[in-house]
Formats: sequence, C-alpha cells, structure tokens
Amino acid sequence: MSSRLVAGVDSSTQSTKIVVCDAETGAVVRTSRAPHPDGTSVDPEVWWRAYEDATADGMLDGVEAIAVGGQQHGMVALDSDGAVVREALLWNDVRSAGAARELVDELGGAGAWVDRLDVVPVAAFTVAKVRWLRDAEPDNAARLDTVVLPHDWLTGRILEAGGGLRGWTTDRGDASGTGYWSPVTGEYDAGIQRLALGREFGVPRVLGPAEPAGVTDAGLVVGAGTGDNMGAALGLGLQPGDVVVSLGTSGTVFAVQDTPTRDASGQIAGFASADGRHLPLMCTLNAARVLTTGAQLLGVDLDEFSRLALAAPIGAQGLTLLPYLDGERTPDLPDATGTLGGLTRANATPENLARACVEGMLANLVAGVEGLKQHGLSARRIVLIGGAAASAAVREIAPILFGLPVHIPAPGEYVGIGAARQAAWALAGGDEPPAWHVAYDHELEATDDDVTAGRAVYERSVSYTHLTLPT
Ligand code: XUL
Repeated sequence: MSSRLVAGVDSSTQSTKIVVCDAETGAVVRTSRAPHPDGTSVDPEVWWRAYEDATADGMLDGVEAIAVGGQQHGMVALDSDGAVVREALLWNDVRSAGAARELVDELGGAGAWVDRLDVVPVAAFTVAKVRWLRDAEPDNAARLDTVVLPHDWLTGRILEAGGGLRGWTTDRGDASGTGYWSPVTGEYDAGIQRLALGREFGVPRVLGPAEPAGVTDAGLVVGAGTGDNMGAALGLGLQPGDVVVSLGTSGTVFAVQDTPTRDASGQIAGFASADGRHLPLMCTLNAARVLTTGAQLLGVDLDEFSRLALAAPIGAQGLTLLPYLDGERTPDLPDATGTLGGLTRANATPENLARACVEGMLANLVAGVEGLKQHGLSARRIVLIGGAAASAAVREIAPILFGLPVHIPAPGEYVGIGAARQAAWALAGGDEPPAWHVAYDHELEATDDDVTAGRAVYERSVSYTHLTLPT
C-alpha cells in the first residue's frame, strides 16, 4: 500500500522551504526551496510567488494535507477587500521600537502586560507595528480593516487559490506573538487593540491545534499552520528538559511547558505552543548572520572562518564581541551597534576575531537558557538547530558556553517538518499529533575545565553588555 503524504511549508525571513513527509512515520520524501528578497518591509506577494516556485514541478503530487509555519509577529495590514494597505512589516523591522515603549508605559509598565498577555511588547510584536502605523501612516491606518500574520496570509492565499477560503484563520502559537491575544485566556484583548490603534480591528479566528483552516476544491486539507518557532518545537517533538537553541536569521531559545511563563523583565516571552501548551521563548536579532559578517570581514568562506575560530583558545585571548549588528531585541537595545571589546596588539588576530564572533553570538543565547532556568524550567540538554548549527566551530564551542550536553538532530528543515506534522494531525484527528521519530546525529559534551572557562567568557560578555545598556 502506498503511504499517505503531507507537506509542511517554512515561510521564513529569507526563503520558502517545502518538506513532503510520510504522514505516518514523518520520513522526509522530498524537499524544495525558493528565496525571498532581502528587507524588513516586503510585499506579501513575494511569499506567494516563492511558494509557487517551490511547489512547481509536481512537488505536491499526492499530498493530502499541508500547513504553513511562518516567521512570527509581522504585520500584514489588510483593507476591507482583503488587499494589503502597505508592505508587510517583518519581526526584525525595528522602526516600531518607540511605539512598543509607549505601549508598555501606557498600560502601566511591563508587569501590567505580563499580567494581561504574558508578554512585554518590543518592536517585533504586531501590536507595536499597529501603533507605529497609527502615528506614522495615518492614511494607511484609516484604511486598515484586518491584521493577519505572515503564516495566516499565506494559508489564506493557498485556500483562496484552491477555492476554499472561508475567512482568515490563525493558531494559538502565532496569535500569542501579536501582543493582543492572551495565551492564558485564549481570547483576543479588544482593550489592547483600542490602545494600539484607537479602535478595534478585524483579527483571524484562532483554530485548535488539529483543526484545519479549510479544504481546497481539489480536496487538499490546509492545516491551521503556526509560527516558525512553534513549528520547530512540533517537528522536534520536545521532551521535558529539552531546550532548543535555533540559529537562523534570529537566534531563539525555547522550551515547551504546561504553564504560562510570566516574566516581567520581558526577556522571556510567554508564547503558546502549536500543540495547546506554552512556549517560553527568548529571541535575539543577531545569530547566523554574525558568522557570515565575520567571515566577510576576514575575507574568508564559512569553512575557513570555522577553522580560524577553532584555532583560537577559549575566550579569544580577551577579545569580546557584542554582536548587535542589526540592533538587538534581547536585551532590548533596538538602536545598539556591535562592539568589539578588549582589543590589544597581542590578541588582534583573525583567529581571535573569528572566535569572538562565535562566542559573542552564543553568549547572547546562554542568557536565554539562564532566563528559562530562572523561571523553573529544567534544562538537561540543548537541542541545536538552524543554519548555523552546521558550523564546526559552533558545534565545538556550544557545549563549552552552554555548559550542557548539546544534541544535534539529523540535518532537516524542522519548521517545515513541524508544519507537516500538524498537517498530518489535521488529517488523522485525535488529541495527539502522530508519533514521528527524530534522529540525532551528534551528542556533544565539553570537559569540566572547558565549561568553567566558557562560563568566564559568558560572564565577560554580560559585563560588556552592562556597559552598553542605557542607564
Ligand atoms: C521569535 C521571532 C523570530 C521569527 C523568525 O519571536 O520573532 O524567531 O519568528 O522568523
């Protein structure tokens, strides 16, 4: 008997990836990808065109269900005809930083936000972008009828093209990144909508984890979809004690738990997971691109960059990089720039610079693991994923800085695989997603001495960050 097929779409910042899987086992049958243009303000049609490119040539032949994992947050502002009123503002667009600060103050501070929605908005959150639109583009704000997220928009577009669109939908995971939906009550917060825009606006219906968004005329079941980090969590089938570190355009640290997070410092956002639970998450703006920028600066390719980093000692002889190359989200320093500290004539080598890039990027994320632990999460191992997890230097340095075993799953598009697993769940129904096996290729551990040295590197990075923080 031939197996049933499902597909997952990872519509991320830089590209669209499609993964077709066996619905029962999760085995990947075929994959494809298409690039997105650069930029933090983009016409959503580019996601649709990339989806069409990536699904051409029979990619979806035999596929019975599909779901989209998309870059979180973003603002796709639609008018009453469903047309976009302006380009979508993405999660990494920091023009809404001032708007986020205003919203925090107007509600009565970070604690008030956490009590109400379990998040403290920063520039990334949709709510801050809505406020920015109100003040910066009043004509567009006046035309705004409904706000959807990137994955909601693409899900709707797939259904529209297939004749099955019956209104906008989203899921708990992605809704929790808007800043106007509560993962605690499971409801939209109309008061926060009014605070942001001065009036309420249309929002997508929030579907349950296995509830389909619709079915096309051709019978393709379209799952609810979710945010990319929630998709990865579903694709990896996380267990208690697993902390994911994902090194893509953003760096994220997250875990899945049954209870809300409530971090009034704003470091850990209390998002919802795609399977009905909670997904405490810390996000930085500077991850994989710190390595590509470092390699560019040194005029080498990524393999040589990695070799250089590994030729330097732990701590890069005192050289410290705060890698805030695109500003930073956590810590909340949207206007920050990178800082190279501790430079001397003796340590000014390509090897130390390469190492400082890797250590600086990872130290930012160690802070996220520490934050999760402070909120009572057990961290038994790091599950390392994302493009930069392929770097030999990252693999060797990560266990030293995290001070925990680092396990690397077999190479794969885990956001796409998670979306495919959600599609399989929508097809099969039931309370639990189908049990898919995840294979691990590497289990890495550092010696106690190296972990002690790694801790000192992290602490040095924290003290440099304090120098950068506004007083
Ligand atoms: C998480 C976040 C990023 C994007 C990247 O809150 O904003 O990880 O989801 O696509």
